[in-house]
Amino acid sequence: MSKIKILLAESIHPVAQEKLQAEGYVVDLIKHAPSEEEYLKLLPQYQVLGIRSKSELTAKILKQNPHLLAVGAFCIGTNQVDLATATEVGIPTFNAPHSNTRSVAELVVAEMIALSRQLCDRSSMAHRGEWVKSADGSREVRGKTLGIIGYGHIGSQLSILAEAMGMRVVFYDVVKKLPLGNAQPKNKLDELLAAADFVSLHVPETPETKNMISKDQLFKMKKGSFLINASRGTVVNIDDLVLALKENHLGGCAIDVFPVEPASNKESFKSDLQNLKNVILTPHIGGSTEEAQYAIGLEVAESFRKFLQTGTTAGAVNFPNVDLVAKTNVIRIMNVHKNEPGVLGELNGYISEAGANIQAQYLSTDSKIGYLVVDLEMDKAKLSVSQLIDKIQKSTRNIKTHQVF
Ligand code: NAI
Repeated sequence: MSKIKILLAESIHPVAQEKLQAEGYVVDLIKHAPSEEEYLKLLPQYQVLGIRSKSELTAKILKQNPHLLAVGAFCIGTNQVDLATATEVGIPTFNAPHSNTRSVAELVVAEMIALSRQLCDRSSMAHRGEWVKSADGSREVRGKTLGIIGYGHIGSQLSILAEAMGMRVVFYDVVKKLPLGNAQPKNKLDELLAAADFVSLHVPETPETKNMISKDQLFKMKKGSFLINASRGTVVNIDDLVLALKENHLGGCAIDVFPVEPASNKESFKSDLQNLKNVILTPHIGGSTEEAQYAIGLEVAESFRKFLQTGTTAGAVNFPNVDLVAKTNVIRIMNVHKNEPGVLGELNGYISEAGANIQAQYLSTDSKIGYLVVDLEMDKAKLSVSQLIDKIQKSTRNIKTHQVF
């Protein structure tokens, strides 16, 4: 049984606990997000920590717990972790950026149909006792053109689903992407805007995407077309969108993300888009499904397993990435060091003095740290593994060194 203890906070999906326990780790689940003070008391007994979005992993917590081997954010964002400090003290931080891809794509499919049939307005009217049975302005999505802006994980998944419903798909991306199915790339955003009956945004939040859909772009969209934004709130200028809706240039929109969002379910939500015709507003739930939570639990637990058992840091958001498979008949050591000239020579010197033979070495660096994984044959060595690790740990450039478990 491994001695590694893992704490999973904030009601992380129990599948993560099951998976990690099956690997022989001791896993404790807690429901709440501990305060800084509580984390400082809890963490000395754990080597790995899983959180969601409510825990604040401050510099103080991380600096006082440099023994932590890894942190996992069982969500998409990692703003709640002081990543610079985590790197500085040698703690790779993993997340699950793509486990909810399908959930977002499905929401957009639902919204295209709902907008096309004014479903939400009709439902609200029926709830109020108003019976409006009419085909006016209600259309099928079959044969219509969907314009996808940002043809990454979500955009391309949506492309497949839309074509399965008989839609035409055009897309625009700043990076050249392989079109899936019969989707057609557009070289210019304006070409997409002019062609699409539905425009759906799937770009990241960057300086280039801030307000990328403003008055100019909205009025280049086809009259009566629909806008869907389940990407990031800053991508659409809300004042301009309200204008395009009020002037009946757009037939409606579905917005899941907003420039300013309430911090919790206890806060109220205000938007100038409220109470406009055929406008669907949802509280940033694009990726929020039980399936996505399950997939996130599995994805981060698998990142922990691979890191602990092979040293793989692929997918870590703050660490040089190394992707490795487990090896038998070698002793594997992970070392995090300050990225300074001569550090590798120094480390190899300790290994050579110990009489160990280097079977393989994997190194990845960023501007601040180097991450080195070494496979050693130590049958004829003069020192034990722990003695060698002790020596390396005494180097002024060492941040963290330990054996892969
Ligand atoms: P991704 O990184 O796989 O794809 C983004 C694509 O946008 C890439 O192909 C990239 O080349 C392209 N892109 C970047 N800048 C662009 C620009 N200026 N113009 C055109 N294309 C550009 O990301 P993924 O996973 O598909 O996510 C897309 C968005 O969805 C992100 O903003 C993410 O935060 C958001 N999201 C929202 C969720 C929700 O709950 N509503 C849940 C999950 C993701």
